Amino acid sequence: MSDLLSPASLESARDAALAAFAAAGSLDALAAARTAHVGDRSLVAQARKAIGGLPGPEKAEAGKRVNVVAQAVSAALEARRVELEVERDERVLVEEAVDVTVLPPRPVGARHPLTTVSDRVADVFVAMGWEVAEGPEVEHEWFNFDALNFGGDHPAREMQDTLFVEPAGSGLVLRTHTSPVQVRSLLTRELPVYVVCPGRVYRADALDATHSPVFAQVEGLCVDEGITMAHLRGTLDHLATAMFGEGITTRIRPNYFPFTEPSAELDLQCFRCRGASAEPGGEPCRVCSSEGWIEWGGCGMVNPAVLRACGVDPERYSGFAFGMGLDRTLMFRHGITDIRDFYEGDQRFTLALGQEA
Ligand code: PHE
Repeated sequence: MSDLLSPASLESARDAALAAFAAAGSLDALAAARTAHVGDRSLVAQARKAIGGLPGPEKAEAGKRVNVVAQAVSAALEARRVELEVERDERVLVEEAVDVTVLPPRPVGARHPLTTVSDRVADVFVAMGWEVAEGPEVEHEWFNFDALNFGGDHPAREMQDTLFVEPAGSGLVLRTHTSPVQVRSLLTRELPVYVVCPGRVYRADALDATHSPVFAQVEGLCVDEGITMAHLRGTLDHLATAMFGEGITTRIRPNYFPFTEPSAELDLQCFRCRGASAEPGGEPCRVCSSEGWIEWGGCGMVNPAVLRACGVDPERYSGFAFGMGLDRTLMFRHGITDIRDFYEGDQRFTLALGQEA
């Protein structure tokens, strides 16, 4: 009898196959073990072939032995295959799991620098107990001009290069400044009134590096008993310090606005050189061009005519108002030379300035 067909040799072939299947750690390893222990050149296959060389009476006996072993081997193979497939499926479920709650990557945005700076100014005033007031951008001429003491044919109306809303005679304009919010506030609020009014304003200016037909202003108005210009100065100095650092002061120079009397141009001491470059021998300053001061806005004591138009008794109440450009504030603060950067919507600009405006 061929040694391959001896019970001992068949059992050891079976044990070797079972051990190899048990040791296979992956389906690939199991496939290799299968080739070695079930394939054409495996001991079991060779044993099966050897049956043919046996004398007739022994064939049946040997065939039975081989079949028993072959069945045990293929059952073990199948059992291990199932085990390994389950393991693989569990691993794939974990490894390839998709978290459907994760949003696809989106470009990160930022607050617009004008929004940020306008909020900062508002915060300075809210901290002093002032309120934030708003008004419409499409404004009635009465609020934008008449109530603010601009005469009907007063050249001051053209002073502000107004954009009128069609049809002609509609009485509507795109507000040329935030000062109409002064009027709206005085008409709707209880006295005393302390309001800060940030917002967009429009003028018929051609777009270039320093002019834009739309820009941002912030207005301040206080009307109370006993208000003097000293309160105006103190408030403006406080704002300057809050925005630009300790000790920065403001300067006012005579000017004319129909709605304030007296009126003044408002300058900010250069926050960079603090006026040093205006001194003889001072180092040139790129922020103020060695002026020592930067033009910031307009201000003055509320004209009694405005108080009267809003039903406020000028014998009892007085007030101050100021207004400044927010684009301008950011431009000199960050060395921005082109106002168009604020309106072109380039996200890189917004990202660079939006957080720290
Ligand atoms: N409204 C004025 C302007 O836009 C600025 C200003 C506001 C002046 C308040 C005085 C008082 O030019």
